Amino acid sequence: MSMSAPSTRLILSFIAILSVSYSVTGAPATKRGIQHDPFPFFPGFDIQAVADLSEQLPSHSWEYGFASEAILEIYNPELSVYGSNPFPPLVIDPSSVKALAYAQSKIQLNLSPNAGANVLIDGDGATGDPASLGLSATLLGLSNSTYTKAAELTMGYLVGSAPRWSNGAISHRADVAELWSDHIYMAPPFLAYYAAVTLNSTLLREAVHQCSLYRDVLVASASNPSVNANLTNAEKAELNGLWHHIIGPQSTDLGLWSTGNGWAAGGITRVLATVMKAPVVLTLGWKDEAVSTLKAILKEILDPLVSYQEITVDPFNGFLRNYLDDRNGTETGGHGFGEISGSSMLAAVVYRLAVLAPEIVTPSSPYLAFAESIRTTIGSGNHVSADGLVAPTADPLCWQCTVPFTSGSPEGQSFVVAMYAGWRDCVLAGICPNN
Ligand SMILES: *[C@@H]1O[C@H](CO)[C@@H](O)[C@H](O)[C@H]1NC(C)=O
Ligand SMILES: *[C@@H]1O[C@H](CO)[C@@H](O)[C@H](O)[C@H]1NC(C)=O
Ligand SMILES: *[C@@H]1O[C@H](CO)[C@@H](O)[C@H](O)[C@H]1NC(C)=O
Ligand SMILES: *[C@@H]1O[C@H](CO)[C@@H](O)[C@H](O)[C@H]1NC(C)=O
Repeated sequence: MSMSAPSTRLILSFIAILSVSYSVTGAPATKRGIQHDPFPFFPGFDIQAVADLSEQLPSHSWEYGFASEAILEIYNPELSVYGSNPFPPLVIDPSSVKALAYAQSKIQLNLSPNAGANVLIDGDGATGDPASLGLSATLLGLSNSTYTKAAELTMGYLVGSAPRWSNGAISHRADVAELWSDHIYMAPPFLAYYAAVTLNSTLLREAVHQCSLYRDVLVASASNPSVNANLTNAEKAELNGLWHHIIGPQSTDLGLWSTGNGWAAGGITRVLATVMKAPVVLTLGWKDEAVSTLKAILKEILDPLVSYQEITVDPFNGFLRNYLDDRNGTETGGHGFGEISGSSMLAAVVYRLAVLAPEIVTPSSPYLAFAESIRTTIGSGNHVSADGLVAPTADPLCWQCTVPFTSGSPEGQSFVVAMYAGWRDCVLAGICPNN
């Protein structure tokens, strides 16, 4: 492993140099202070414009956290958990890492004893959303221990103080026990990363366990199927494995929200990568089981999406429906309009699994065909404006709205950036086609 890693990197940089001519609009990579071209392949649209806008639109805690993650995956892939050798992380100068400079400018530290969930930023009542900045805080902590303290307090709140569901799942809300699929992208990937850096095996296992506990409550199944009256019982059964959005006493939403499934699958994929690459001493005796459990949950989410596209995809535009189980789509003005947020995150998951789980996502599998169709559809039909604005997306603050959102979704922009990073890394790995 340690013998082959540097030569792999050399080959990757060689490939990146060869592909510079495919660069879309970018300034030379050296101007950005990095060693490789972040945009070596053309995805069918101006990805650099999309990425630039993704940094400007966020205004909420989780949007800052997600943008930081997507920027890291684009500009410093060697530091992300999708890098070939991310542990222990080496950050010589955090100000030279675009994602960390960005995160640092958004973090508003509150180290007081009653900060609760809000140590890194005010989460507006959410436990998990501030934790979306936790991976950045952990990396910033390598050169400034104030951030290490903040990451530690955030971890301590999540595992020690946040309310829990009866099965042990950490609530996404601070005042009541309530599970939101969104949580899985915000909290477990941070807990896993922090565990791998601080060499805490118990915590790493807890992060894996949280993914399973959330799945057990939120998964659509025979006992808790899709609620959409416009589907036959047989059609509902075809969608089992997808996740409901929210279950709890305040905001229950039993719809199969596309973005929520994207958050869940995207977060589980990050936890999977962390477990696979964590120092081996942390996962002795349980790694194989954790890896196969996480892969099985991911397959369970992806299977209905790709197998029953006559339900999940809006034929009007070729994107996954905002509510995957609602056929009242773009043309009929309902909740089932095709949109890019959930579509691109789930495509990102497929591209990552093509590398992490090649036994499931083979090059000829329907999963990869699905991801490629999402990517190429974004590149056709004016879905990306000259300013890099991606539309239509879900309304990020109104998931129940029936009108496709076209004025620029902060998370929607970052979903497309994450999809590009996954596709690019899959092409560089020699697995995905570049066309
Ligand atoms: C560490 O970060 C904190 C919070 O941004 C800042 O107040 C402090 O000056 C930094 N310490 C050093 C040594 O740079
Ligand atoms: C390791 O993680 C557990 C939570 O799983 C936490 O309670 C404990 O404090 C952590 N240990 C250290 C040394 O941080
Ligand atoms: C209900 O589902 C049928 C069968 O796919 C579809 O043709 C119809 O448009 C749907 N109606 C509404 C209002 O969603
Ligand atoms: C379809 O959407 C329209 C507009 O939101 C709504 O009035 C109608 O009730 C929906 N039909 C079904 C079957 O959900």
